[in-house]
Amino acid sequence: MTKLWGGRFQKSAEAWVDEFGASIGFDQQLVMEDIEGSIAHVTMLGAQGILPAEDVEKILGGLRELNVKAEAGQLEFTVANEDIHLNLEKMLIDLIGPVGGKLHTGRSRNDQVATDMHLFLKKRVAEVIDLIETFQATILEKAEQHVETIAPGYTHLQRAQPISFAHHLMAYFWMLERDKQRFTESVKRIDILPLGAGAMAGTTFPIDRLKSAELLGFSQVYQNSMDAVSDRDFIVEFLSNSSLMMAHLSRFAEEIILWSTDEFKFIELDDAFSTGSSIMPQKKNPDMAELIRGKSGRVYGNLMGLLTVLKGTPLTYNKDMQEDKEGMFDTVQTVLGSLKIFEGMVRTMTINTARLEQAVQSDFSNATELADYLATKGMPFREAHEVTGKLVFTCIQQGIYLLDLPLEEMKKESELIEADIYDVLAPVAAVSRRNSLGGTGFEQVKIQLEAAKALLS
Ligand code: ARG
Repeated sequence: MTKLWGGRFQKSAEAWVDEFGASIGFDQQLVMEDIEGSIAHVTMLGAQGILPAEDVEKILGGLRELNVKAEAGQLEFTVANEDIHLNLEKMLIDLIGPVGGKLHTGRSRNDQVATDMHLFLKKRVAEVIDLIETFQATILEKAEQHVETIAPGYTHLQRAQPISFAHHLMAYFWMLERDKQRFTESVKRIDILPLGAGAMAGTTFPIDRLKSAELLGFSQVYQNSMDAVSDRDFIVEFLSNSSLMMAHLSRFAEEIILWSTDEFKFIELDDAFSTGSSIMPQKKNPDMAELIRGKSGRVYGNLMGLLTVLKGTPLTYNKDMQEDKEGMFDTVQTVLGSLKIFEGMVRTMTINTARLEQAVQSDFSNATELADYLATKGMPFREAHEVTGKLVFTCIQQGIYLLDLPLEEMKKESELIEADIYDVLAPVAAVSRRNSLGGTGFEQVKIQLEAAKALLS
């Protein structure tokens, strides 16, 4: 089969060589964007009088027909035509005749492919932002139901201080809020049109790049044609934002996994988001959470992959850049899928309130209360820490907790301790009194929930 660029060649590559160079296997995902870009390009060529109106009409007719077929999944791509751009151009020429060959006037695949990627990512990032927001709304809803559910808070995965379970859930809301902001801010760098840069130097035709931008809904065009065709920063940025978001999802997933163990039993995942074992009949595994935790790996890999592809590539376009696509497609799919699954998993999970509250009864996470109590009575905090530590040690030796320790035992360490200490040591008091800004105190958590709600509305 003759190539669309075959003029200067005396012989053609063998099929297996073509196959290695071809990107149609994956860049066919850009089919809608490629047609969209061509429609805008040829419309602009017509408006500028670069192509006569009748040619433009024929080309537009052909492109619209291809569009309908693409939507119906009826286009058959071939490796012989290398990539999505040449496949579509060949189909157009087959459909409407040689006039189809005028579409590529004043354009190169270099500005074309970059345009497709910008169009594609702009749409997908909007979907990511929407899904983040849906997930945030679900977290917020769960949190609102558990403001007064007392749970153990951890550092080093050791019981630290009691918290409102809503506070714990809301920590993820704010991580996702930053992710959403990062994706939103990145849009202004995706929203720049490379079309019209040609192969890399611009074109001799009197094109109107701003017209193309207007037709395609871009608010800016690249100011430098060489930058336009070689810039892949916007993809790196997407992969980087995705990586950080996956780190957040992975941390949350890890907690979901821990919380569903028999050892914790803080939550139970819905059957619809769990799987069984082929041998152990009792098993209910948090596969979805584990998969999301695992999938963060491939997203980081895609980021490293693209950074490495770009490193040291001279200006402008190099075929290396064809390697920008699979990692991006894979990341889009991974991120959208992970957000969707995670939202459903959290929405349907049961929070074991009784178990959470019982957990804080049998630990020393109220020890800070005792130290703060002594400090409030004038004892230097360092000393209060020491006194409390000794009382904790006494308890450990007797197999009891601070609330079980008789007042006279406590007084042996400090006369400052009075009978009101038992109210102070109650986990609910420990939580409700932590009303410093952003703290876990009920009042603060309610303020936080209001702030979050305002962000979503
Ligand atoms: N398939 C190519 C890519 O994805 C399209 C651009 C080809 N340009 C070229 N000069 N060979 O990068």
